[in-house]
Amino acid sequence: MSPDSARQADGASEIAVGLGERSYRIVVGRGLLARAGELSAPLLTQRRVFIVTDANVASHHLPAVVQSFERSGTRVEHIVLPAGESTKSFSQLESLIDTMLAAKVERGTMVVALGGGVIGDLAGFAAAITLRGLDFIQMPTTLLAQVDSSVGGKTAVDTARGKNLIGAFHQPRLVLADTDALATLPRREIMAGYAEVVKYGLLGDADFFRWLEINAVAALSGADGGHARLAEAVVRSCKAKAAIVAEDERETTGRRALLNLGHTFAHAFETELGYGDTLLHGEAVAIGLVLAFQLSARLGHCSAADVAVIKAHFEKVGLTWRAPRLGPRGAISADALIAHMSGDKKVKDGTPTFVLARGIGRAFLCREVPRPALESVLGEALNG
Ligand SMILES: NC(=O)c1ccc[n+]([C@@H]2O[C@H](COP(=O)([O-])OP(=O)(O)OC[C@H]3O[C@@H](n4cnc5c(N)ncnc54)[C@H](O)[C@@H]3O)[C@@H](O)[C@H]2O)c1
Ligand SMILES: [Zn+2]
Repeated sequence: MSPDSARQADGASEIAVGLGERSYRIVVGRGLLARAGELSAPLLTQRRVFIVTDANVASHHLPAVVQSFERSGTRVEHIVLPAGESTKSFSQLESLIDTMLAAKVERGTMVVALGGGVIGDLAGFAAAITLRGLDFIQMPTTLLAQVDSSVGGKTAVDTARGKNLIGAFHQPRLVLADTDALATLPRREIMAGYAEVVKYGLLGDADFFRWLEINAVAALSGADGGHARLAEAVVRSCKAKAAIVAEDERETTGRRALLNLGHTFAHAFETELGYGDTLLHGEAVAIGLVLAFQLSARLGHCSAADVAVIKAHFEKVGLTWRAPRLGPRGAISADALIAHMSGDKKVKDGTPTFVLARGIGRAFLCREVPRPALESVLGEALNG
């Protein structure tokens, strides 16, 4: 076992995110929400927390968290927001902050983000800017949030001009990933989050990808032994993300940008289809991962066999890698997708930067992708 993670007596695993004075722990395990009070206690400067959650999560998990804080002698206030991406908006941010100020939160009040990536991003951003910065704890309840959005300190809201365009880097003080919370998550959300798990294998850890090839079906089935495997996938994903974030917290060296493997394509499809239920983010990521490898193969960086192995894995677990061909504006064109890519936040001097791969587990950043290669890969996906 690597020195940065340790299995605790109660079966939970801990991963350290090493960021100097902003370092924190990710705890992954069962039953953690019911122990939220005790696990958070050492970090509270005031025995007071303000929980932000959404309606779906509240109905399943809020009572356990509230009771746990109350048992540990902590005053709890909470707000339940509507579920869905539209909650990550300026207007919700404003009303959330207004509610917090009306409740007279103080610099020592701990904000708790209990939910998926929407709640984590919104509550984290509110914490970043309220009273010039409150501490916050992430309690991620979706697979996507447990393996990705709760770690690394990116917080944001969306605007009409694009997703995540307004936000701040604000690291949580603690991440509590209770894998039991995933039991109430709809299957489709589990599968979407799984695409981000695969991403870690594909970008930097071929062994992890091979492990997933053997264990993913059981991990996702909820069958005997499945839970332990899913928890292990969460731990390995968090370790991968923690290592990258510790090296390149603010995405300045290019290392953190590798986490965007598949995402330039994914965001283009999401923009074309409109963010919502038609195509979940993780579903777009699965499609994007295959396209990123297809583009890599087209440019001679990896083999067609790599692409085939990835497609086969997605098919085996039941995630589609086939690009949607129809959007609200009719047939989706390569030109439209490329136009969305050029408007992406990651764009440097007008050309999209791609994360490509020299093989499974060997991603790299490529600033110059010839447009004809991109057009042909997209053309094949949309018409082939
Ligand atoms: N900050 C980052 O680094 C980062 C990284 C990746 C994604 N994100 C952001 O994350 C967001 C997507 O996150 P998400 O996929 O978690 O979506 P989400 O927060 O909308 O959750 C998905 C759905 O599951 C419900 N839900 C959550 N937990 C549940 C549970 N345990 N049981 C039952 N229902 C539950 C939610 O109410 C919602 O309807 C996007 O806005 C994306 O931009 C941020
Ligand atoms: Zn993603």
